[in-house]
Amino acid sequence: MDLGLSGKTALVSGGSHGIGLATARQLAAEGCHVAICSRSQARLEAAVAELAPFGVRTLAMPADLLESDAADRVMDAIERDWGRLDILVNNVGGGGRWGGEIVEQTELRVFGEVYEKNAMAAVRFTRRALPHMRSAKWGRVVTITSIYGGKEGTGRPWFVMAKAAETALMKSLSGMAYLVRDGITFNSVAPGGIYIAGTGFEDEQRRDPEGFERMVDRDYPLGRLGTPEEVAAVVVFLCSQQASLVNGANVTVDGGQSASF
Ligand SMILES: NC(=O)c1ccc[n+]([C@@H]2O[C@H](COP(=O)([O-])OP(=O)(O)OC[C@H]3O[C@@H](n4cnc5c(N)ncnc54)[C@H](OP(=O)(O)O)[C@@H]3O)[C@@H](O)[C@H]2O)c1
Repeated sequence: MDLGLSGKTALVSGGSHGIGLATARQLAAEGCHVAICSRSQARLEAAVAELAPFGVRTLAMPADLLESDAADRVMDAIERDWGRLDILVNNVGGGGRWGGEIVEQTELRVFGEVYEKNAMAAVRFTRRALPHMRSAKWGRVVTITSIYGGKEGTGRPWFVMAKAAETALMKSLSGMAYLVRDGITFNSVAPGGIYIAGTGFEDEQRRDPEGFERMVDRDYPLGRLGTPEEVAAVVVFLCSQQASLVNGANVTVDGGQSASF
């Protein structure tokens, strides 16, 4: 199937690692020019090296999205270098392990920072991307949420709240006729547990390998966690020409982990 992505331009926030990098790689494999942003220069350079063999144009911008002007600086650079943006993947996020078990003892600032990193980053990028998509009469916005921002509403409240806000952002925009009739779609992808080297699951596994194995066996019907590539494949389809009727969806990619319908 030709996804119709050749020659399009995309920004994947936090595209230098994990789900974001897998998405950037799969978009590049489809011939899409890809911009990424994240904090570590070393990670950005390694990601650009991975994208180079696909022969597409790349842009890698250092940015800490906890800083309120960072998204604007990234979008300024894209406008300067490319003058257009067709696809936005709001991937940056996380914070599910921030704060502590006891809500009253967790500082209020944690709620704000997790909201900023997830929901506000998505708001900031989306607002700046829309004029480009409207003038092109085509656009795709896909936001990476979590099963804990919808189907499974348990867990640390700052994370559930921030992910639910991202899902709500996509859903509310998907109903705005003036945007959708300009050819723009808005969708969320809600992963379950995804195993990524160098992140929290690997730490847990190293600390207690047997406990980790028991947890995976108990909580994951497939007997394993997901991979970033399995999430990216769904994201890239939602970015495609073929997904033109998929708008306002919140697609669960969790191997059956969530208990709810
Ligand atoms: N992994 C899971 O199990 C899972 C499950 C459900 C949902 N998700 C969601 O999937 C998305 C991606 O998560 P992931 O697990 O793929 O994460 P990851 O492997 O840790 O990658 C995160 C990416 O974002 C960048 N980043 C982190 N903090 C940043 C900041 N303040 N400003 C700019 N860039 C930043 C990182 O690079 P730097 O560190 O260099 O900045 C990296 O490129 C998140 O929204 C997360 O909530 C993940």
